[in-house]
Amino acid sequence: MSERFDLLIRNATIVDGTKAPRYEGDIGVRDGRIEQIGRLDRARADLEVEASGKVAAPGFIDAHTHDDRLMLSAPDMAPKISQGVTTVVAGNCGISLAPFGSDARNPVTPPMDLLEGEEGWFRFPTFGAYVETLRDKPAATNSALLVGHTTLRVGIMDDLQRSATQSEIGRMREMVREALGAGAIGVSTGLYYEPAAAAPAQEVIEVCQPLAEFGGLYCTHMRNEAEHVIDSLDESFRVGRELGVPVVISHHKVNGIANHGRSKETLALIARYIPEQRIGLDCYPYCAASTILTASRAAIASRVIVTWSKPYPQFAGKDLTEVARSMGLSDEETAERLRPAGAIYFSMDEADVQRILAFDQTMIGSDGLPHDAFPHPRLWATFPRVLGHYSRTLGLFPLEIAVHKMTGLTARTFGLKGRGVIEVGAHADITLFDPGTVDEAATFDKPIAPALGIDTVIVNGTVAWRDGKSTGARPGKVLRRVAR
Ligand code: ZN
Ligand code: CU
Repeated sequence: MSERFDLLIRNATIVDGTKAPRYEGDIGVRDGRIEQIGRLDRARADLEVEASGKVAAPGFIDAHTHDDRLMLSAPDMAPKISQGVTTVVAGNCGISLAPFGSDARNPVTPPMDLLEGEEGWFRFPTFGAYVETLRDKPAATNSALLVGHTTLRVGIMDDLQRSATQSEIGRMREMVREALGAGAIGVSTGLYYEPAAAAPAQEVIEVCQPLAEFGGLYCTHMRNEAEHVIDSLDESFRVGRELGVPVVISHHKVNGIANHGRSKETLALIARYIPEQRIGLDCYPYCAASTILTASRAAIASRVIVTWSKPYPQFAGKDLTEVARSMGLSDEETAERLRPAGAIYFSMDEADVQRILAFDQTMIGSDGLPHDAFPHPRLWATFPRVLGHYSRTLGLFPLEIAVHKMTGLTARTFGLKGRGVIEVGAHADITLFDPGTVDEAATFDKPIAPALGIDTVIVNGTVAWRDGKSTGARPGKVLRRVAR
């Protein structure tokens, strides 16, 4: 009798996520797991996918997202699943949707408003309530969740311009413990942003104490990514060392023309500490950043595009300079007028971006902002841009390395067991793509467009994307971290 699977992928070129050279094979999936790999000529399946000429890779893991709310409000996760992403790490930059309820001390303040819509999505007083909702109404992708230090601060502190008192630290520590108990894999900080900028490293260390007992990790949007980037790296490593937990440096970059080229220094420093403590980093493949709009941020960029504006929604997609001219104001005054608003900032050096992307421990993370009216194209195009533009066209690294940076490396860094690899027994998160045509479609001019060359995307054994569209399936799970 011939073997029977739920799903059978035939004649694929397998790039398994471990950096190993590609090889040809069939993949048999049953009950959400990869059950056999090899020549499975006589096997049959409920669904058979012919994949000759296509690469079968582990589903991509987006190491850095702000998809906390997208998973609930647009659970098809089109910007991600269309790129071949099957797992998102959410709750980054100190901003998580939970825990933050109606008893919060402050209103939703920037940058938390990156996640907010008109309907009031900050509605989960505990992290457990959020996780439960996500389990009841799953998204198309899996998720691994961080709890944000800024969310905690804004929720409980009456004054955000100072460090937390011992009693406030105690409360935040309990909230971290609750979140980790409910399934969060770690804590994120956004010390760069106003609501957390007054928090010294000592506050972070004390709030994050439960990380050690739960085996969580610490992810940080550092205090400074410009002239003080080295100090900020030192501070981040110190937090990891004092807690005895791994550190992930979020969207590593060096900002501002005066700092161009300094990734040589930052990467050398990271490499020096890696033998002593566990350090990961992620990067998006663009030399333009995107976050909330302020005059000071605009001042160190060569070009600024408005991504959204509450008082002036009509300016989304326009250059700040162009808007300033039409308003008869300076760029600085215009930025203040448009707030609350978001922007894209051309502030990095392409050579730095390539050096960071090519660094051994660098994972690919989009940092996409899914609720922006005119988003940075990284939201829809990060993964195909790395595969197409950086790997195939520029030859920055081979395909096997590109895939590793978006799968096996990421799963290992975040402790996502059985993910990020094509091997027998692994969860069946699989992306099929055409290695000759996979490429970005979304651009700075036209930022919303599904990737080119992504054929089929499978999450936990279920097809979630095929023939250029969502299947409507929502097989995503909330993943736990398994600490090594
Ligand atoms: Zn950030
Ligand atoms: Cu971010």
